[in-house]
Amino acid sequence: MKLSNGKNILITGGAGFIGSNMVEKLAENNRITVVDNLSNVDERYISKYLNKKDFRFLKADISSLHERSDLTDVDVVVHLAANSDVRNGSNGPEVDFQNNVVGTFNLLEYMRKNDVGEILFASSSTLYGEAAVLPTPENYGPYMPISSYGASKMAGEGFITSYSHYYGIRGTIFRFANIVGKNSTHGVIFDFIRKLQKNPEEPEILGDGTQRKSYMHVQDCVGSMIHVHEKSAKTDIINLGNRETTSVTKIAHTVAERMGLPKVKFRYTGGIDGRGWAGDVKVAQLDVNKLFSTGWTNKYDSDGSVDVAVAETLKQMGWRK
Ligand SMILES: NC(=O)c1ccc[n+]([C@@H]2O[C@H](COP(=O)([O-])OP(=O)(O)OC[C@H]3O[C@@H](n4cnc5c(N)ncnc54)[C@H](O)[C@@H]3O)[C@@H](O)[C@H]2O)c1
Repeated sequence: MKLSNGKNILITGGAGFIGSNMVEKLAENNRITVVDNLSNVDERYISKYLNKKDFRFLKADISSLHERSDLTDVDVVVHLAANSDVRNGSNGPEVDFQNNVVGTFNLLEYMRKNDVGEILFASSSTLYGEAAVLPTPENYGPYMPISSYGASKMAGEGFITSYSHYYGIRGTIFRFANIVGKNSTHGVIFDFIRKLQKNPEEPEILGDGTQRKSYMHVQDCVGSMIHVHEKSAKTDIINLGNRETTSVTKIAHTVAERMGLPKVKFRYTGGIDGRGWAGDVKVAQLDVNKLFSTGWTNKYDSDGSVDVAVAETLKQMGWRK
């Protein structure tokens, strides 16, 4: 289904980082409903749409959608609502189970009851765990996630493919690398900026700084989601990211340089095996050949995504040298 011509699109988590960028991309030519419980962010990133025709905001939990009777006109769901911070689960996995597993299940129940036929789902590279094959292709297995967040995404994927088989709901499942850019609410860049603001002398880096991951700019993320979903005719799974990786230390230096603090000395917490926290995958590199074989090209590589995202985040925070 084309997502560009007068569709009724429900975006869960639409007030958040990736969600608000998705709203920007889709609002021009479609009728948008955002469902968000505002647990991670307020309405600031979607405030300009709140009084617009063809835009509806429901402050609600996705777990309650299957009990509502006022959402009968939806053609397609973009499912982004989740506990999005991998670290949270190490303090209690319930947050991932409730929001990401029960939430996704109840959303699918809502879709089944209301004949909504298509879903785009934000899954994650964390479901691969510490993959023995790098770059990791979509058909790598067995999945052995090391965080409850990764486990919850694995469950979400499984429910989507089963609902696809039982009820004909078509799902496009996207396993994201680290997404960065405008409107971010959390993550490595956001953390470093905050730390450097508080302590420009000796800010802390979680782990040993050698953690290496692939980064993707949010514009490439939302653009490729739409591109891939429109091209695909059946339920499918696809990695989203860039070919190369970049290290946590390199990102920290990029942030410091952009803030005019090139001589800053970072202090490493060390962590267990150099990880930032329990459940932090040390090296994540996705095989993105399937993405590029659809004809999609990213505007930014990993380092370019980080660099642009640092500038965008600093600007949004009103930071001046
Ligand atoms: N940002 C990344 O690097 C990244 C990487 C992999 C996967 N993802 C996934 O992409 C999606 C979007 O992530 P994001 O970075 O924009 O995070 P975000 O926290 O900015 O956005 C998630 C939004 O969902 C809302 N939400 C959370 N639980 C909810 C619930 N139960 N009911 C209704 N709303 C709820 C939050 O208030 C928030 O606005 C998430 O599913 C996340 O797991 C993100």
